[in-house]
Amino acid sequence: MSHLVAPSLLAADFSNLAAEVEMVNDSMADWLHLDIMDGLFVPNISFGFPVVEAVRDLSSKPLDVHLMIVDPDRYLERFRDAGASNLTVHYEACHNLHRTVSEIRRLGMKAGVCVNPHTPVMLLQDILPYIDMVLIMTVNPGYGGQTFIPGSINKIGELRSMIDLEGYDVLIEVDGGIDLHNAPVLLHAGVDVLVAGNTVFSSSDPVEIIRRLKEPS
Ligand code: DX5
Ligand code: ZN
Repeated sequence: MSHLVAPSLLAADFSNLAAEVEMVNDSMADWLHLDIMDGLFVPNISFGFPVVEAVRDLSSKPLDVHLMIVDPDRYLERFRDAGASNLTVHYEACHNLHRTVSEIRRLGMKAGVCVNPHTPVMLLQDILPYIDMVLIMTVNPGYGGQTFIPGSINKIGELRSMIDLEGYDVLIEVDGGIDLHNAPVLLHAGVDVLVAGNTVFSSSDPVEIIRRLKEPS
């Protein structure tokens, strides 16, 4: 399978949201990544249901929703109704992770589990049979435009081995500080999905940047 690219809307111009989503529609992007922050799990607040619903109505790409919120179980169905195709929760935010990802799948969405930079991927061993993707944070979550943490590369290799050893059908997604320089390294390490915010939306030619992120490494 060739890898996927998911522009992160957090870096878009929110005064011009329809045009930004239209740009993604017209690009080679596979998914549109939406970051939900509650000011508790992370120190920042982003946007909520009305924005996700508006984007759903504009987007021709599946919505890849990344929940950086405490106790996400409260909102799984509402995010499904708001348009999420993929719903990713943080390992660090879930007390009963198996129950949470099972519910996400029961609601008809792909289930993802995200790990912060300090969380070892070996902790995911027992949940891998029940999920569709792992999102590896390559910055501390909460803000766009941060610098990629190079140590993340080792985690990707380790997780790739865990997945391949058992033959699980689980995608590896990376998020935070992804650019045209580190993308090839990440793909070589075994990444399936590249999330990119500022690299795409701060560019004068975002469609071309997405095309270049889609190039095989
Ligand atoms: C950070 C978010 C990311 C963010 C990535 O907490 O999860 O999705 O938008 O932005 P960049 O690519 O600019 O680091
Ligand atoms: Zn994200």
